[in-house]
Amino acid sequence: MGKVAVAAAVIGTAAVVGVAAVVVRQRMKSSGRWARAVAIVKEFEEKCGTPEAKLVQIADAMTVEMHAGLASEGGSKLKMLISYVDNLPTGEEEGVFYALDLGGTNFRVLRVQLGGKEGGIVHQEFAEASIPPALMCGTSDALFDYIAEKLANFVAEEEQIFHQPPGKQRELGFTFSFPVMQTSINSGTLMRWTKGFSIDDTVGQDVVVELTKALKRKGVEMRVAALVNDTIGTLAGGRYTHNDVSIAVILGTGTNAAYVERAQAIPKWHGPLPKSGEMVINMEWGNFRSSHLPITDYDHALDVESLNPGEQIFEKLTSGMYLGEIVRRVLLRMAEEAFFFGDEVPPKLKIPFILRTPEMSAMHQDTSSDLRVVDEKLKNILEISNTSLKKRRVVVELCNIAATRGARLAAAGIFGVLKKTGRDIPKEGGEKTVIAMDGGLYEHYTEYRKCLENTVGELIGDESSSAITFEHSNDGSGIGAALLAASHSLYLDDTSSS
Ligand code: GLC
Repeated sequence: MGKVAVAAAVIGTAAVVGVAAVVVRQRMKSSGRWARAVAIVKEFEEKCGTPEAKLVQIADAMTVEMHAGLASEGGSKLKMLISYVDNLPTGEEEGVFYALDLGGTNFRVLRVQLGGKEGGIVHQEFAEASIPPALMCGTSDALFDYIAEKLANFVAEEEQIFHQPPGKQRELGFTFSFPVMQTSINSGTLMRWTKGFSIDDTVGQDVVVELTKALKRKGVEMRVAALVNDTIGTLAGGRYTHNDVSIAVILGTGTNAAYVERAQAIPKWHGPLPKSGEMVINMEWGNFRSSHLPITDYDHALDVESLNPGEQIFEKLTSGMYLGEIVRRVLLRMAEEAFFFGDEVPPKLKIPFILRTPEMSAMHQDTSSDLRVVDEKLKNILEISNTSLKKRRVVVELCNIAATRGARLAAAGIFGVLKKTGRDIPKEGGEKTVIAMDGGLYEHYTEYRKCLENTVGELIGDESSSAITFEHSNDGSGIGAALLAASHSLYLDDTSSS
């Protein structure tokens, strides 16, 4: 071999060794990064753990807080608000009523014709609009004017057959899904905003007065006959179709529950004892908190940076407004500390609330063998491309961890209500409990829903679980508000005009 050839061979070998060293270093680097990413996921999973024993502790804490909230105003984080609904729909409600449903990013106006006994819901129609984000943090007048205007447009399209006879005002059930201290069935002051709304000048105001003023400004002739929370509306709507409904749970942007309580078990109620002996209670369970709740650093940071720090802790662990955001926070940490998406942190991943729960749910429920939906969502929402299948599986796992914790906690809440009302143990005579469920999370996130229902079964045991059923009360809260407007109508005894 000549000198040149030997030199070339030496250089060649050195190059091979050099490349091999780079490859080895890169492999070590990437396996180090992978290990770090896996460790972050593992830690998240551990901290989100909801073993059955913990759920029982949470349910017990919920019942303790329920008692405390019923005992005195401000006695608990659970407000246990008195709804002034002491009679749920009977099926005899009759006439044309409106409903206005405000509680999340969308609101709806409804027109419902009730046909009395045997008649059922003869006619219903609705219009939906989204609330412009600027109005969620603006002024009270701006928000209520916007709503009143949409209602005015809807009323303007009312067909002749739905017109009220002369001298009779249209009546409305107002579903306002925020914590309200009611002073009667159709008055109540807003205690504080939740779910991303923050309009200072509404807090402490009577929301029926606010709405009525706006209706006047927009020239709408309408009487607000009932003011209800969405849980109360759902309970009323659920009872209309099913006699055994006694609990309602909302799992949507926010979460909450309402149930029928014995009036005598409400020490803070100083009014006359209702004839029915019952009163529906709006728990506002979104604000529940307990040392037993599995709270991670991600949840803590989310809470501190939220519009309502320290409040709605249960809601921030379980509801649709927050689940996607929790997953985003874990992914961001993996990108920053384990370079999960390459050397750069994808800029979009730094934007709070960019990953919405419906997108998270679509990724979680991706059944394609190559996780195509995950790939697409990562690309379209976060501008992250070229992920390996292995990484996409990790993303699915994160969604699973966050959704499972949320669903199991919500199940523990339901178990708490069942315990408080003595419905957790089988009754002689086979008393049934139907739980009216509503909200986008419950309706659309199948994995979440299945996990929630299975967990309630796990907690109450086989013997009792056959007596408990869940019923999706579609649009129950709007219809329920119309029904309650009907049963609190000014014209109840007025047979001539019906
Ligand atoms: C929030 C509100 C509550 C509502 C729930 C579901 O928790 O405070 O009033 O019922 O969201 O919409």
